[in-house]
Amino acid sequence: MKAHSFQTVSDIRIENGGAAKLDFYVDGLCPNKRIAVITDKGIVSLGLMEPGLASLRDAGYQVMVFDDVVADPPESIVLKGIEAVTDFQADLIIGFGGGSPMDTAKVIAYLVANPQPIHKIYGVGMAIGKSLPLLLIPTTAGTGSEVTNVAIITTGETEKSGVVADALYADRVLLDSALTVGLPKSITAATGIDAMVHAIEAYTSIKQKNPISDALALTALSKLRNAIVQSCNEPENLDCRETMLIGAMLAGQAFSNAPVGAVHALAYPLGGFFHVPHGLSNALVLTEVLKYNQPKADKWYGEIAQSLGLGDSSSALIDDMIRIKHETAVPLTLSDVNIPADAIPMMAKDAMAKDRVLQNNPREMTYDATVKIYESIL
Ligand SMILES: NC(=O)c1ccc[n+]([C@@H]2O[C@H](COP(=O)([O-])OP(=O)(O)OC[C@H]3O[C@@H](n4cnc5c(N)ncnc54)[C@H](O)[C@@H]3O)[C@@H](O)[C@H]2O)c1
Ligand SMILES: [Fe+2]
Repeated sequence: MKAHSFQTVSDIRIENGGAAKLDFYVDGLCPNKRIAVITDKGIVSLGLMEPGLASLRDAGYQVMVFDDVVADPPESIVLKGIEAVTDFQADLIIGFGGGSPMDTAKVIAYLVANPQPIHKIYGVGMAIGKSLPLLLIPTTAGTGSEVTNVAIITTGETEKSGVVADALYADRVLLDSALTVGLPKSITAATGIDAMVHAIEAYTSIKQKNPISDALALTALSKLRNAIVQSCNEPENLDCRETMLIGAMLAGQAFSNAPVGAVHALAYPLGGFFHVPHGLSNALVLTEVLKYNQPKADKWYGEIAQSLGLGDSSSALIDDMIRIKHETAVPLTLSDVNIPADAIPMMAKDAMAKDRVLQNNPREMTYDATVKIYESIL
C-alpha cells in the first residue's frame, strides 16, 4: 500500500464581515503590535481594508500598508516589500487581496525572517527556516493561495518561478465573503474556474494524489460548480460568495498536497508573455487539455462526473466545464485575448519547460500536443 501525507493551515476562520474586525483576528499572532499589510492599489481604492485597519489602530497596533503589489508579482516588487517591512520591524504580515498580494506576503514573511538572496528559495523545499507570523485574507475566490505552501513570482520579463515549501503555510486564514461581493463578473468567472482547475488537477495528480486531497477536491468541485454561475449573475449573493470562497480554499488544500498539472503548464506562458490573468489563462486551455488527458484520466474524470451527479462518463465532466465557460462568458480563444498564431511555438517551448507541474499530469505532455492544443483554441 502507498504511504501518504497531508499538510494544511491549522487555523481557518470563516465570517462574513470578519475583515472589519481585524483586531480580533490578529489576536495572539502579534506580540509587539507592529503589522505590515501587503496588498495592491486596486484593493486600497475599493476601501476593502479600511474598517479592519481602523479596528487595528483603535486597538493600539502600528500598521504599515505596502500596496505596490501588481498581478503576477515581479521579483523587484517582492524585494521592495522586504525592505519596507524590515525597516518597519513588523512582527506580523497580513496578505490581503487575491493570489498576487498573498503570494507576495508569503515570500516577504519568509525572507524578512531569513535574509538571503531570493533566488536561493525558488524550487521545492528550498525555504527551510521559519517565517514571520502570517495572516492571509483572500479577496478573490480562486487561487486558494491562503492555504497553499506555494508562492508564484515573476522572474525576469516573462518567467514565473515557484517557491514551494511548508514554511509558506500561513498561521491563520480568514475567509470573509463580504470582501468578494464587488468582484467584477470577469474576475469572478476566471478566478472561480482557476479554483475548479485546482480541484480537477489535484484529483488527477499522478504522483501525489491521496485520499485526503481526493475528498477535498470533490467537495470543492461540487461547491464551485453549484455557485460559480450564480455568483457571476448575482454578485451580491453572500451565500454564493461564501460557497465560492470555501470551494476555492478546499481546492487549495487539495492541490497544495497533490499538485496541479498540464492545464497550469500551458496556462503559464499566456500570463508570462501576454499578461493574460492567471484564471483566464487556465480557462482558455482547460477543456482542450482535459480532452488530451482523457485517455489516461478517463476513470478519474468519470469519478468526478459521478460525484457531481453528471453520470459516470468522463466526457460529462468536460462538457460541463464547456457549459460553465459559456455561461460565465469567459473569452474562449487566444485571439480573444490578442495572442497571435506566431506566438505558439514560443509558448509551447515555455510550457514544456514547466517540469514542476508537468510531472503531475496524468498523460505525458509533448511539444507537438502542446502546439496542437494552442492551435485548437486559436
Ligand atoms: N500560491 C498559489 O498557490 C497560487 C495558485 C494559483 C495562482 N497563484 C498566483 O496568484 C496570482 C493570481 O491571483 P488572482 O487570480 O487572485 O488575482 P490577483 O491577485 O492578481 O488580482 C487581480 C485583480 O483583481 C483585483 N481584485 C482582487 N480582489 C478584488 C475584489 N474583491 N474586488 C475587486 N477587485 C479585486 C486586484 O486588485 C487585481 O487588480 C498569480 O500571480 C498566480 O500565479 C498562486
Ligand atoms: Fe491556478
